[in-house]
Amino acid sequence: MGHGPQDVHGGVDPHLGRYAARTAGMTASEIRALFAVASRPEVVSLAGGMPNLAALPLRDIAAQTARIIAEDGLAALQYASAQGLPELREQICEVMALEGVRGHPDDVVVTVGSQMGLDLVARLFCDPGDVVLAEGPSYVGALGSFATYQAQVVHVAMDEHGLVPDRLRAALRQARNAGRRVKMLYTIPNFHNPSGVTLAVGRRAEILEICRAYGVLVVEDNPYGLLGFDGRTYPALHSLDPENVVYLGSFSKTFAPGLRVGWVLAPRAVREKLVLAAESATLCPPTLNQMVVSRHLATQDWRGQIDAFRETYRERRDAMLRALEDHLPPGCTWTEPDGGFYVWVRVPEGVDTRAMLPRAVDARVAYASGTGFYTNGLGGRRMRLSYCYPPPGRIREGVRRLAAVLEAEPALAPAFAGPAPRPVAGPRALAPEAV
Ligand SMILES: Cc1ncc(COP(=O)(O)O)c(C=O)c1O
Repeated sequence: MGHGPQDVHGGVDPHLGRYAARTAGMTASEIRALFAVASRPEVVSLAGGMPNLAALPLRDIAAQTARIIAEDGLAALQYASAQGLPELREQICEVMALEGVRGHPDDVVVTVGSQMGLDLVARLFCDPGDVVLAEGPSYVGALGSFATYQAQVVHVAMDEHGLVPDRLRAALRQARNAGRRVKMLYTIPNFHNPSGVTLAVGRRAEILEICRAYGVLVVEDNPYGLLGFDGRTYPALHSLDPENVVYLGSFSKTFAPGLRVGWVLAPRAVREKLVLAAESATLCPPTLNQMVVSRHLATQDWRGQIDAFRETYRERRDAMLRALEDHLPPGCTWTEPDGGFYVWVRVPEGVDTRAMLPRAVDARVAYASGTGFYTNGLGGRRMRLSYCYPPPGRIREGVRRLAAVLEAEPALAPAFAGPAPRPVAGPRALAPEAV
């Protein structure tokens, strides 16, 4: 039996015309589309951002979870506060204190991952046509949330020290002159996704001052802040201006993303609205998962666990950088992250990383092409390589395959044939707007 025009396989959607106008901004991210191919076992995926959970003590977590249900099951399996469990909110404040944040548990809202925090913030602040400033490039999931609420993202250039204050000023001035309403600066100050860069401490106060002067809220997204390879942490923007910064945190990278426990710390008035918005989205965050996280923080050496994660990621970062140095063709440059999951690679002129991706997948390696991290079409000469999930040997093999694909690109082939001096490959500072 046919399905007529509503055939699910590429046919016309019979509900067209019913959808809200905001759905126009909802498109599948390039990265999601990649997941299916990248997860085939023969493909080395340098594309996704999945944490490596092998260091987790699964038996302990299983025992803790069983105990929670056996001893406190009627609460664990019940609805609870829309804002999140009070004990967990207190513990979250202890976690944030590691980066200088002096938060009160009353001002914390537990969310279903920090992705939900992004959605709530966009829901509270963005009307259609409002401008959100974000680093160029920026986290694809945040760009998706802003698009859903029909905000326009304007990218602000970064360099190797993070967001460039002068570029921020210029973007704000330009928006004001054009009569545009800028609602917020969305920023990932530490071990940025996708660039791997960290905002210089010396720039932090200046960026906050600029935002204050223009009456713009700062949304600080900090899922990687405790994953610095030398164990160093940086002062959170929130610690420098608590009244004008909404802080998003997550246990996804420091414990387990499948539990979907994140949080927002917000100035009191904003927090009240956040709770209402959270309640309308989920009634309350999952009680059992909150208890699992809370018990983990109360009874396990969670700092030691984060140290173990950090060590794994440092080793993988080293493997990635060495492989890039050994294999990538001349003219490629990349960032050198001090923490987090990602390296941002610039390829030679004439190579289009989005167009090249199918050829890379044929060669059994996947990456995230740079265009997914911009809303304005930039990023064609960039790609994000993640070193968080594959073990070092796979990382090396993946980069070797990637190098072969790059060398076969028509734009590069002449460089290998002629006697002209060739540019070298190597790590290099991220230059603003160098796409
Ligand atoms: C910068 C950034 N923000 C937010 C998230 C979402 O994380 P969560 O699992 O807490 O929703 C991610 C996940 O990769 C991320 O990289």
